[in-house]
Formats: sequence, C-alpha cells, structure tokens
Amino acid sequence: MLRSARHLALLLALLTGGSHATSLPDPLYPGLGQPGLDVLHYDLALTVPRPGTPWLQVTTTATLRAEQALDTVQLDYSGPDILTVQVDGATVPYTRQAAPPKLVIHHALRPGTEARVTVTAAGTVTGIQDATLPLRLGWQSVPATSTQPGANFAFNEPDGARSFVPVNDHPADPATFTTHLTVPVGVSAVASGTRLDDRTQGATHTVTYDLTVPVPTYALAIHVGTLDEVRRPAIHTPGQTISWTDYFPTSTPADLRAPYARTGDILRTLSDWFGPYPFTSYGSVVVTPALPALETATLSTMPVRSSRERVITHELAHQWFGNAVPLGAWSDTWLNEGFATYAELLWAQAKSQDPQPLLDAWRARLTGGTRPLIATSPAHLFDDSAYARGALALHALRTQVGDAAFRAFLHTYTRTRQGHPTRTADLLDLARTQLGLRAADTLTRWVTQPDLP
Ligand code: ARG
Ligand code: ZN
Repeated sequence: MLRSARHLALLLALLTGGSHATSLPDPLYPGLGQPGLDVLHYDLALTVPRPGTPWLQVTTTATLRAEQALDTVQLDYSGPDILTVQVDGATVPYTRQAAPPKLVIHHALRPGTEARVTVTAAGTVTGIQDATLPLRLGWQSVPATSTQPGANFAFNEPDGARSFVPVNDHPADPATFTTHLTVPVGVSAVASGTRLDDRTQGATHTVTYDLTVPVPTYALAIHVGTLDEVRRPAIHTPGQTISWTDYFPTSTPADLRAPYARTGDILRTLSDWFGPYPFTSYGSVVVTPALPALETATLSTMPVRSSRERVITHELAHQWFGNAVPLGAWSDTWLNEGFATYAELLWAQAKSQDPQPLLDAWRARLTGGTRPLIATSPAHLFDDSAYARGALALHALRTQVGDAAFRAFLHTYTRTRQGHPTRTADLLDLARTQLGLRAADTLTRWVTQPDLP
C-alpha cells in the first residue's frame, strides 16, 4: 500500500514535473530566460583583484542543452565588456542586445544537443535597479573603511545574476555550479556548495566550491572579504549529517553572532516538518550593507541588521522552498515567501512559544490591503501578501487538516517537487490528491479571493 502510494506520487511528479520550457516566457519578466534552453551546469571563474571595488574578471562555462531547435543561444547579460565567446572550444561571433539585455551567441543548436559555451568578460559591474526597493541587484561592492577592509558579494534575487555573469536567468532553469574565486592572499572567498580546494599562486589564492544540487541562478552565494570562519559541530538529523560553518566580517560584535548558534536546532526542527534537508552543508555569511536577507544556497546572506533567529529561520526554510524546489514563474513568489514566513511560526512553537502574536502580526500587515496570492506585477514579488498572506494560507490549511497530515503534505511536496519548476497549480494539485477536495478548496480561496478569507 505504502509502496504503491509512493509509486503514484513518483508517477505524478514525472507527469507534472514537466520541462521548464513550458513556463517561459515569464508572465512578469517576459525578457528573462530563453525558451527551449536548459543550462545544466555553470562553471564560474571570478577574479577579484581589489576586494571592495566593482571591478572583476569572469569566465563562465555553461553546459547547456537545446530542448528545441535554437537559431542562436541567448543568455541574459548586462555585465562588463566581453572579451571572447567560444562554443565547444571554437570562437564564435556574438552580439549584445540592450533591451532585454542579452548576449546573443550566433551558434545554432539542434534539438536534444548539448554544448559548452565559454564567455570571458572583464570590467566594472554597475548592477540592476530593483523593481521596488532603492537598491541595486547583482554584484555588490562594499568599499573599505577605516575600520573594515573591502568586500564583495552577490545579491541577485530576482534578476541580478545577469549583472556580472551570462546566465539563463530564470528560476525555471535551475543548474549546478562550480565556482572558482581568485582573491588576494589573506582575503576569504566562499560560495554555495562544498569547498573542493584552495590554492595559492604568488599573491593570490583560488578557492573552488562545488554545488551538486541544481538551484536557480539568483540563489548562488559568492562572498569575498575579510571573514572569520566559524566551524560548528555537524548537524545530525535522522539519516543525515550536515556540515555547518558561519562567516562573520571580523568587526561583527559577539551579540550579533550569538543568534547564529541556534542554526543547528532550527535546521533539525525544519527538517522534521519539511523533510530531508536538500544539501550537505549550511551556514550564514554576515554582510554589512542594509539590504534584505537572501537565502543563497547552502550559505544564506545575512545583513547585520537581519541577525535574528526569526530571519535565520526564514532564510533556512528557503533552502527547501525556493532553492531545492524552484519557482516555475516569478508570479508564484508566495510559494517561497509564504513557506519561509510560516517556518518562523514552526520554530516559535518548537521553542514552546505562543504562535498567536505572529499570526496577529501577519494579519496586521494586511489591514492596509491584500491581493490574491499569484502576483500580477513585479512590485508584488516581495510584498506583504507574498509573505504574510502566504503564511496565513498555510496556517489555514494546517488548522483544517491537522498537524500529521500537514507534515506529510509538506514532505511529499518537497520530495516530489525538488528540482522541478513549481507553480501554484502544482501545490493545489497535490493538496487535492493528498489532502482532499475540502482542503484544496480552502487553499484555493486563499490563492484567488481578492479579500482576506
Ligand atoms: N527572498 C528574500 C527573503 O525574503 C527577499 C529578497 C528581496 N529581493 C528584492 N529584490 N527585493 O528572504
Ligand atoms: Zn523570504
């Protein structure tokens, strides 16, 4: 019985998992990503000679597959000057296009064929204006001050990766990453995944990281700076051992480092609710600019002001919701933000706190107005409805079906959707098949009703 249920779930995942080609062009960002292009792996080699300045050199090799006939390969890119473009080792012509910003590689691909595209570029990165916040997305430069050496890092969600690397910049095309970072000796460099090696040549060293679970381009972590590496005890969950390291700018005071010590307990709590943690390592990197926190894969990017258990929990939850289970379209960000926000309540309850204040706070965030959960403009992507209404929708579902069924539902969702671009309809389908029509109706009301149910 159990075996055949698993079988059915697997079959369902295969049927609905679908190819990401069907979800592009994106309803809100029609310029992002090339329909029919599937990047399997990115090998990135970044050289940062003067940390804290926006100058870099980057060589990107994308291993890609054409899912349909492609006349040209079109990568999203608005970064520094391109020096060379090669396909499978041979130089090919290219053009740059301004709107939407693309690197057009004049090389045709037959359906089902693979190619390795290598692009070398160097120069100053300017970044991309965020749709709602007064911040620039992409490669960040934190100039040195009298008390702190310079730093750089990636802050890419939603479409900042293309500010410094040519990518198929859409979450519906997650990929694995190998990242080589060359920086001056004495400067730390960390990225998503596992550190493979660290080699010194003269005044620089090159650190290589490998991430073997596919994630969206915006979720790649890259950090360069003067960082204290704090190695923590491995985290043990049933059947898993997860290595854990946090990184702090040397100036970070002890009280801001303290909340990160709870990460292991939080991860155990969340994996109990969500299912196995999708990667083999985790940690946080603290950064000094006043940005939002970002759930970069295996290594969350945590501004100093976000150094609180609630935000640590939120970004950790995104490792399942957003990183392992990628969005199929930008209009579905509530699938990321609603689950990550709901995790804050799960952690509060695990500490025997009353969840009511959180529920009240979420409702309060929506008194000024709310919207159906599927976003219809880029301004909706990270608004209160995505976070607070999304979380309340999940709470309504849990209250109706009970904790055991809710937990089983979350486990099935993360297991069957991992690596598959996922849309709200996929969640509703699973609610219907696993929890029944009444539960699916409840969720549908939260998704579609203009007012708060
Ligand atoms: N996903 C991030 C978080 O809630 C928020 C990113 C906000 N990005 C932006 N461009 N406004 O954890
Ligand atoms: Zn979030």
